Amino acid sequence: EWKELLMKMKELLLFLSCVLCVFADALHSDISTVGCSDSDGEYMYGLDGEEKWYADFNKKEMIYPQPPFMDHGTYPGAYEQAVANQQVCKTNLQTARKVMKDFPLEQDAPSAVMIYTRDEVEFGEKNYLICYVTGFYPAPVNVSWTKNGQKVTGSSINVPYPNKDGTFTQISRLDFTPQQGDVYSCAVQHLALTEPLTKIYDVQASGQSDPGVGPSVFCGVGLTVGLLGVAAGTFFLIKGNECS
Ligand SMILES: *[C@@H]1O[C@H](CO)[C@@H](O)[C@H](O)[C@H]1NC(C)=O
Repeated sequence: EWKELLMKMKELLLFLSCVLCVFADALHSDISTVGCSDSDGEYMYGLDGEEKWYADFNKKEMIYPQPPFMDHGTYPGAYEQAVANQQVCKTNLQTARKVMKDFPLEQDAPSAVMIYTRDEVEFGEKNYLICYVTGFYPAPVNVSWTKNGQKVTGSSINVPYPNKDGTFTQISRLDFTPQQGDVYSCAVQHLALTEPLTKIYDVQASGQSDPGVGPSVFCGVGLTVGLLGVAAGTFFLIKGNECS
């Protein structure tokens, strides 16, 4: 087992520390993140690349983002621990600011933004649009959505997930029902970007056209012509027999 302590102290923005534990046989790896800024904070625990739980400091509770059928277990005192970690983080941030004054602020713009759907697109069938943002530092990014040029609300975003290289990933999700002709976009704002990075999702271009009536009409016509042929054949067969 080895532990790596990654600490990046920034003059202005975020103080984040990640403890990454990888078991010797590398069967599983878990990660715990404590982060804070003047206005924001994060506590997250992940296992094998997935968020297991995170602290929601507005709702004042731990959130277990698994589907409801999963038994995620409960961890008494976990939220209180997260709150205590925030105190430590903020104290460290103040200290780091004092000590490292004029230390240049490191900023990496997102290296990739991708937009895609969770499920294969069927017109009129509920689906999710995903905006996947990775490779940025510091966290977080803001993601906003539009539908046909109009702002839409109701999207959700996960807490920043640390990558191995010290940058972060965030995934924003929007409920939508694909309709022919609709165009969606997700716009990503980050400290290192002068203007938002925007990705377009065109339902028309991406949608699988519903098989619809085409094949059944084709099949029906074919069957009818075939049966007519059989009927005509039978007719002439009987007629032929009558004449002889
Ligand atoms: C994200 O949005 C908040 C609230 O509107 C704003 O204060 C913050 O500056 C934004 N962050 C970035 C990186 O643009």
